[in-house]
Amino acid sequence: MSVRTFTTETELIEAYASYVIELISETLKTQDRFSLSLSGGSSPIKVFRVWKETYEKAINWSKVDFFFGDERYVPFEDPQNNALMAYNELFRPLGIHEEQIFRINTTLPAETAAADYKETIEQYFGAEPIIFDLIMLGLGDDAHTASLFPGTNVIDEIGINVRAAYLPDNVTRITLSAALINQANNVAFLTFGEKKAEAVKHIFESEFNPTKYPAQLIKPIHGKLEWFLDDASVSLLS
Ligand code: 6PG
Repeated sequence: MSVRTFTTETELIEAYASYVIELISETLKTQDRFSLSLSGGSSPIKVFRVWKETYEKAINWSKVDFFFGDERYVPFEDPQNNALMAYNELFRPLGIHEEQIFRINTTLPAETAAADYKETIEQYFGAEPIIFDLIMLGLGDDAHTASLFPGTNVIDEIGINVRAAYLPDNVTRITLSAALINQANNVAFLTFGEKKAEAVKHIFESEFNPTKYPAQLIKPIHGKLEWFLDDASVSLLS
């Protein structure tokens, strides 16, 4: 595991953006496609904008296939929808083609949407194991990641799976399971801001308690785990 901390959010965003570009560029030297699972929420938006502004010509974006670590179970047109955000901030600006985009179909019933997405992923990987080249993750201030929220039905999922997650006070989500995430070649957290400091402290310093701190579940089996943090988010670490 590597932990990189940066003084400011801007430095962190730039470092994360270039880390991913480097990884894609390196990987495409030895394989034809790069499978990238995007995180949702607001943090990735700034990274997407750096890719557009600084790295549009740096790599062959047509060789990158885009997936989602999780989705809010709302219509695509809903401002909360992670895929809509990615279309607006990444896919349209970079001219990513539809066949490179694998999003969760939230017009289906939640359980069906989860099963359907698992099938989409399985079809993509074919006979090979489901091993993403990179899974981007954010961190909630309650120590959730993807849509693995504290005390929810998906925390105990041990399979390589995609599940519907039912949250007491939030929209239903569709999420990759921790076991699926842990098969990836690379997993990289992007976390910044004071609000995340408590969660970061628990993840790095509290006893293993994934029901309370689900991001503790993220331990790639053979891949690399990278943490990109700013000073504000590590301010409570002893
Ligand atoms: C989502 C994300 C989720 C996110 C964290 C952090 O769908 O919301 O996948 O896991 O990464 O909640 O969100 P922010 O980046 O908005 O702080």
